[in-house]
Amino acid sequence: MFEAAPMTATDKPGVYAELAQQARGLMHGEPNLVANAANFAALVYHALPGLNWCGFYFLDGGELVVGPFQGKPACIRIALGRGVCGIAAATRATQVVADVAAHPNHIYCDGAARSEIVVPLVRGDGGLLGVWDVDSPHLGRFDEVDRVGMEALCAEFMQTLA
Ligand code: SME
Repeated sequence: MFEAAPMTATDKPGVYAELAQQARGLMHGEPNLVANAANFAALVYHALPGLNWCGFYFLDGGELVVGPFQGKPACIRIALGRGVCGIAAATRATQVVADVAAHPNHIYCDGAARSEIVVPLVRGDGGLLGVWDVDSPHLGRFDEVDRVGMEALCAEFMQTLA
């Protein structure tokens, strides 16, 4: 049984570094995409404070389709370019939204969401796997440290596909 070690870091960069190490251990030697995605979402959801949803949307038939996640049931399909997820997928740039109510393109899955970060998942060959989406019930929950940390976590996840 995998037991996530209690976080010892008190600063946010340190927490993300510990989390990346735990994610690496959790997925080590396991090539199954769904298994790793499910465990990755559970690890992050329970490790980071102030989240109400985190999970994957995978590119499938030209649109994003929800994958393993933690939180309330979510929108199933999102077109590329639509929603914060679709913008991250289309632009391949991480989207940090401090106030989703002020974002013209945000799609509500859970009315509790106030801020959001979405990281595109790009394969080594340049192909798009999908996106990693994290929502918070707090305004401005995600900053530059979260962007760097989430991108490093996603790099650990993508490493399992190599
Ligand atoms: N808010 C996202 C939709 C997915 S849910 O948050 C889980 C978006 O605007 O793309």
